Amino acid sequence: MASGFDTTPEQQAGQLHFLKSQILETKAPVLTRKDADLSGQTAIITGGNVGVGLEAASQLLQLGVSKLILAVRNEQSGQAAAKSLLVSRKDGPQKVEVWKLNLSEYASVMAFAERVGKLEARPDIVLLNAGIICAKPTFNPLTGHDEDVQTNYLSTVLLLILLLPILKAKPSAAIAAKNPVPHISVVSSVLAHWSKFDERSADPLLPAFDAKPTSNWNMEERYSASKLLALIFCSELARRIPREVAIINAPTPGLTYGSSFMRQTAGTVLGFIIGIYYRIFGHGTNVGASQVLAAAVRAGPESHGQFLENGKLRP
Ligand SMILES: NC(=O)c1ccc[n+]([C@@H]2O[C@H](COP(=O)([O-])OP(=O)(O)OC[C@H]3O[C@@H](n4cnc5c(N)ncnc54)[C@H](OP(=O)(O)O)[C@@H]3O)[C@@H](O)[C@H]2O)c1
Repeated sequence: MASGFDTTPEQQAGQLHFLKSQILETKAPVLTRKDADLSGQTAIITGGNVGVGLEAASQLLQLGVSKLILAVRNEQSGQAAAKSLLVSRKDGPQKVEVWKLNLSEYASVMAFAERVGKLEARPDIVLLNAGIICAKPTFNPLTGHDEDVQTNYLSTVLLLILLLPILKAKPSAAIAAKNPVPHISVVSSVLAHWSKFDERSADPLLPAFDAKPTSNWNMEERYSASKLLALIFCSELARRIPREVAIINAPTPGLTYGSSFMRQTAGTVLGFIIGIYYRIFGHGTNVGASQVLAAAVRAGPESHGQFLENGKLRP
């Protein structure tokens, strides 16, 4: 067993572990202000308009975060989310801003990072939550890359890299005594562990994902591989970035119903079956969000470069 983990990589990648983790294991609780007081802090959530991201936004506001940036591709949906988040907030001035970010376009990613660079204070929490699973082969018209790989890996890690120097250079707006080490959490999935990753020996690697499929499309495998690529990237990046600059980790929300994640299968027989599966084995977005916030808010330097599940470090 790898040191520091309560399970082996082989067990972690197995269905039995997944069922135990979903059904039996205690989940990281919803944090309260006693656990973490985020007043003064700034947070960014990509894909904060729906699903796990929206619920995480709500939980961050409960923790007192002063400024929350919802980074969304659909600004109308983002504004509706911001409105719904602020409706129930009564304790003090908290700002929720909606910023355009389309991970399908590098120009949008770069413009977003440039805008973050113009903030007086750095973001203290960055939750790179936006993600997609394509039910059919989908290729990005601008880059030619597979859209899962584009969104979940390439654009997400580009944003991460562009934000790092900003986090390093700028002070936190939180008072000095509470000056936190910034956290960047890249939302992952246990499916990263399930990926067969048949492309592993392709050299160069990325074009192997750009080829149009000649046989049956396996949407789960492609999504899983895109999440695995992001996970490997985080693990390698953490070796190069001191944990004092930013704690970079990769939490999974766990199987979560109530989000729009499987939207592309809606109205199909497969979508119906998946819906039942999610309801039996999954949990709601409030639980999914508290799993990712356990990493983005609470996890310490030991989580740098690590995958987290139910608030625990896992291989
Ligand atoms: N639900 C699960 O069981 C589960 C399990 C493990 C991991 N995850 C991960 O958890 C994260 C959140 O998923 P969710 O379940 O909350 O799904 P969701 O409700 O579909 O939310 C996904 C978010 O990503 C955004 N997004 C997708 N493509 C984008 C792009 N090109 N540019 C900008 N934003 C984009 C979506 O924006 P729009 O609203 O505009 O489409 C939405 O805000 C994802 O990373 C997912 O892979 C989910």
